[in-house]
Amino acid sequence: MRAPELSKEPAPQAGSGAARPAGIAAVPRERLGQARVLIVGDVMLDRYWFGDVNRISPEAPVPVVHVQRQEDRLGGAANVARNAAALGANAGLLCVVGGDEPGERIVELLKDSGVATHLERDPELSTTIKLRVLSRQQQLLRVDFENTPAHEALLAGLARFDALLASHDVILMSDYAKGGLTHVTQMIAKARAAGKSVLVDPKGDDWERYRGATLITPNRAELREVVGQWKSEADLHARVDALRASLEIDALLLTRSEEGMTLFTADGEALTAPADAREVYDVSGAGDTVIATLAVMLAAKLPLVDAVALANRAAGIVVGKLGTATVDYDELFAPNAR
Ligand SMILES: Nc1ncnc2c1ncn2[C@@H]1O[C@H](COP(=O)(O)OP(=O)(O)OP(=O)(O)O)[C@@H](O)[C@H]1O
Ligand SMILES: [Mg+2]
Repeated sequence: MRAPELSKEPAPQAGSGAARPAGIAAVPRERLGQARVLIVGDVMLDRYWFGDVNRISPEAPVPVVHVQRQEDRLGGAANVARNAAALGANAGLLCVVGGDEPGERIVELLKDSGVATHLERDPELSTTIKLRVLSRQQQLLRVDFENTPAHEALLAGLARFDALLASHDVILMSDYAKGGLTHVTQMIAKARAAGKSVLVDPKGDDWERYRGATLITPNRAELREVVGQWKSEADLHARVDALRASLEIDALLLTRSEEGMTLFTADGEALTAPADAREVYDVSGAGDTVIATLAVMLAAKLPLVDAVALANRAAGIVVGKLGTATVDYDELFAPNAR
């Protein structure tokens, strides 16, 4: 007998001792190898500079960091794509990058990650980069570079989207509000007309642009920005149902950090998966792992509730990792590991 990983109980608090679910059966590797997910959205580079601080600057009352090491990681939609590829799926990534060094670095890192990249270059664009300066494990400063891609690059991306649609099963929109998804409403309409599921990781307070999506995966703050603060689980449910109906979105998966995640669909019942983490080291990027896992499992034709249970399991694994932000097939399904 299979124990359900999702329940109809309201979200329990972290550490409430919820029993570890027995888990759902492993999906054969070959099945994931046939899953084709197209990720569209804002890519970025996460750069870390590590160094020592031994003095205060004579120019201003600030520390002087002597940088000794640099580390680069794929961020945003590129991190989502990397997560889908790590599970063994065919991950395609459609995005815009600049002709600058961070853009080159993203291309280079993507080559090693097994993602099929479909890049539009915009020579005027500053590729989005978040630079952190760290000393002794402490972040001293974060410096962001970004601007909005040019109209022509976005239109070229839209044409490329049309061409890529037929060869993918699930379309994933990873919105970080950097302008890469300017044409998201049109893309969703085209994908749905072609019979594809569309998953959206939203940003900002205008969700009209996501009209007609299959499933949307906000975190608590993102949902609050759109429906306001809910007073109870019942109130939350009512607000989500009204939102889904008005935007014609089939399902909403609310990710709730230490409270796990809750799935709302037209079926009426809200299904909650308690947080599945054994240890929590680094929660950043967990949302990327959630939507990537969901997309891969839906592309492999799993039922939505099973896909959600596996996404929750993947999130529980990834928050226990420092540094790397992906979960691979063995980690997700290895019988002895979980
Ligand atoms: N502190 C935590 N303890 C246990 N599980 C966590 C914790 N934070 C996140 N998770 C797991 O990761 C999932 C996604 O996290 P969260 O709701 O914070 O998404 P998010 O804000 O979009 O993340 P990010 O934008 O940083 O990638 C949660 O549903 C849960 O399964
Ligand atoms: Mg997120």
